[in-house]
This record gives sequence, structure tokens and C-alpha cells, in this order.
Amino acid sequence: MAPYYAIALLLGMLAVFFSGGTTVDDTTLQITLYMKQTPAQDQISLAQGTVLINWPIKDGTGASANTTGHAKGLTTQENGQDSTWVIMMNLVFDNGSHAGSSLQVMGQHGASGQWSVMGGTGNLTMARGIIKYNTLYQDADSRTIEMQIYAYCTPMESILAL
Ligand SMILES: *[C@@H]1O[C@H](CO)[C@@H](O)[C@H](O)[C@H]1NC(C)=O
Ligand SMILES: *[C@@H]1O[C@H](CO)[C@@H](O)[C@H](O)[C@H]1NC(C)=O
Ligand SMILES: *[C@@H]1O[C@H](CO)[C@@H](O)[C@H](O)[C@H]1NC(C)=O
Repeated sequence: MAPYYAIALLLGMLAVFFSGGTTVDDTTLQITLYMKQTPAQDQISLAQGTVLINWPIKDGTGASANTTGHAKGLTTQENGQDSTWVIMMNLVFDNGSHAGSSLQVMGQHGASGQWSVMGGTGNLTMARGIIKYNTLYQDADSRTIEMQIYAYCTPMESILAL
């Protein structure tokens, strides 16, 4: 192999290595949290097919789980034949290790699926990632939704301009 080929190959490998979409200061958020929907208590129907939500976020499923924040936003039914729901919410953390930070989340809302993490604030600034969600329990009064969150964040401290 000619030497310049070897150099080009090396540069190419370096380019691939450094183009992963994250910078050195990025952090990875990998956490499983639980959202509890109790319609009679934590949501208001604005109109048919539009619900304002304030669902507690917990760090576990048992009675001893801590409430670490709330999912604040809305779910709305799209005007299509299939009547699917869309969710748009801020996960606002005010207790536990992410207190003072938030995540902005959006996607199709059903019994299970995926939501996009499109942003964040505080230590979760510039969050981009995915939430795999699944309805764990459901009874007449409530529903517990498991959220497996995976996101890259650029904490505020590492944004020198601010
Ligand atoms: C609730 O918070 C306490 C204190 O930080 C912690 O020890 C405990 O593990 C948390 N509970 C769960 C279910 O994570
Ligand atoms: C907030 O978290 C702490 C532990 O970090 C826990 O002791 C407390 O019960 C939590 N508050 C609520 C409302 O769950
Ligand atoms: C954000 O992260 C920094 C550095 O890890 C830490 O000192 C600070 O307490 C965190 N702030 C919040 C609100 O979690």
C-alpha cells in the first residue's frame, strides 16, 4: 500500500471516529422512569380528544417509589380515520438527581411505542434521544407507563457562551 493511501485511510478512520454526533463534554442519560396516569386526578379534558396532563413521574413502581417530577403537556387525538393520539410534554424534574432539569418529548401515544427526546434544560440541555415506553399496569382508575430513556445531553456548564 502506498504511504499516502495509508494516511488517507487513517484520516478517514479518524473522521468516522470523531463524527459520532456527540462532543467530549456530552453526557449520556440512561434511566428507566415510570409515569402514572390517573385521569380523575392528574388531567383535564379541554375538549373532546384533547387532554391537559400533569402526570407524576416516579423512580420505581412500588409504594416506596419517589416522585421525581411531572409530565406536563397535552395529548391530542389526530383527526384521522385511525384516531391515534399524539403526546407533547415536558418532563419537569423537581426532586431526585435530575431536579432542576427537564426533557422535551413528543410522539405517537398508544399502549407502547417510542417517543423522541427533542431537547432539554439544565443538566439535560440539548438532550436528543429516544424513549421506549410501555404500559406496565392498567386498571379502572390508573395506568402506569414505563419509560426507558436514552439520550445524549450537553450540560449547561460546558456551554461556554452562556
Ligand atoms: C428514593 O430515594 C431514595 C433517596 O434518594 C433512594 O435511596 C431510593 O432508592 C429511591 N427509591 C427508588 C425506588 O429508586
Ligand atoms: C423526593 O426525593 C427524596 C429522595 O431523593 C424522597 O425522600 C422524597 O420522598 C421525594 N419526594 C416525593 C414527593 O416523592
Ligand atoms: C448538574 O451537574 C453538575 C456536574 O455534574 C452538578 O454539580 C450539579 O449539581 C448538577 N445540577 C443539577 C441541577 O442536577
